[in-house]
Amino acid sequence: MGVPEGFRWGVATAAYQIEGAVGEDGRGPSTWDVFSHTPGRVRDGHTGDVACDHYHRWPEDVALMAGLGVDAYRFSIAWPRVQPSGGGPVNRAGLDFYDRLVDGLLDAGIMPAATLYHWDLPQPLEEAGGWMVRDTAHRFAEFAYLAAERLADRVGMWITLNEPAVVMAYGYALGVFAPGRTLMLDALPTAHHQLLAHGLATTALRARGAREVGLTNHYSPVWAQDAASPDDARAASAFDTLMNRLFTDPVLHGAYPDVTGLGVPDMSAFVRPADLTVIASPVDFLGVNYYQPTRVRAPSEGGALPFDLVDITEYPRTGMGWPIVPDGLASMLRTLRDQYGEALPPLYITENGAAFPDAPGPDGTVDDTPRIAFLDAHIAAMRAAIGEGADVRGYFAWSLLDNFEWAEGYHPRFGLVHVDFATQARTPKRSYAWFRDLIADDRRRG
Ligand code: NOJ
Repeated sequence: MGVPEGFRWGVATAAYQIEGAVGEDGRGPSTWDVFSHTPGRVRDGHTGDVACDHYHRWPEDVALMAGLGVDAYRFSIAWPRVQPSGGGPVNRAGLDFYDRLVDGLLDAGIMPAATLYHWDLPQPLEEAGGWMVRDTAHRFAEFAYLAAERLADRVGMWITLNEPAVVMAYGYALGVFAPGRTLMLDALPTAHHQLLAHGLATTALRARGAREVGLTNHYSPVWAQDAASPDDARAASAFDTLMNRLFTDPVLHGAYPDVTGLGVPDMSAFVRPADLTVIASPVDFLGVNYYQPTRVRAPSEGGALPFDLVDITEYPRTGMGWPIVPDGLASMLRTLRDQYGEALPPLYITENGAAFPDAPGPDGTVDDTPRIAFLDAHIAAMRAAIGEGADVRGYFAWSLLDNFEWAEGYHPRFGLVHVDFATQARTPKRSYAWFRDLIADDRRRG
């Protein structure tokens, strides 16, 4: 099964994970600078201070993308470069960087796809309450406006937020990502304020001429440990509600899913009636990030969450320990269609990929056969879903480069291109040539 005409093959990255240059050209601190510099937060004390030094080496990285033959590149714009304190006038030098990058991409025939929030919140905004407070949503819309004012004439796709569910769960509920808060279910307002930010930003972006606008969610099919157990089924439904549907229903249906009985705070305390209209502003696409399914069972006595996570052990795993289940992608695409029907906009796989412990062999080449198998199987699953009617318009591999994998630092390697972090040498892995050939073949057939 081929892909539809105009299908966009791409690669994805995010600012804090690759740029480095954290103190340059007026950039302010983000929550991830503070978090990574706090002892014990990131494995081996790694930080994004230098990362892949992409801020200086972007021409080499654009050349690598040109060599791949991708149609599009998904990157993120660091808010603290554009507004170092999270508000107020634009820092021109910060936007100049993205201006150069966007022009460089267009010169190489690559469509820029910009994410506005990939987790690097300006630290002063966090100190004022971060996503727990409504004001952050309004600040975000201003940032979106400023970014679009400068770049909307050339950026082909705008993604407001990346994985707001993960920000809520890992950043504010469990505290394993920045800002490291452990509010558990009391983190719920961060969902609403991010969604409100998405809605307000969508309007701001369109006002400045942005073409395609959408948001990217993390989607994981949820499995009950014992399908015959009503308690496990309830736990699976709770996880699905809090991590998948909470971030999709309001955007596509203009209403939150029913969260009663899940132990979360009363939403009327922070949701104003008109907010849902803002959040449901029409989007041009929905971005789907897929990595793995989730298995849950009924919570243990006195558990703080309405589910317990259970390891999935019967599948092979990636270097992150994540089960490799390509059909999970196809089933998620099916579920989205069943749940949202006509309200579902065109989809993009905005991230899919895997970490493996890749290292250069004696001859300097990086043979990452497991990554090729992973990508091949997931792309096949996507093609199968397209064959059944899923409206998928593009696929972005995560990631172009090995990079800063959040709390795991530089240990996991997700790139199609190997990075030696001591020398910044880039070495395309075997998967790079494989993906290049896949794109070329596809184009020949189309
Ligand atoms: C999703 C996130 O958007 C990205 O930043 C991260 O590196 C990948 N998952 C892999 O964990």
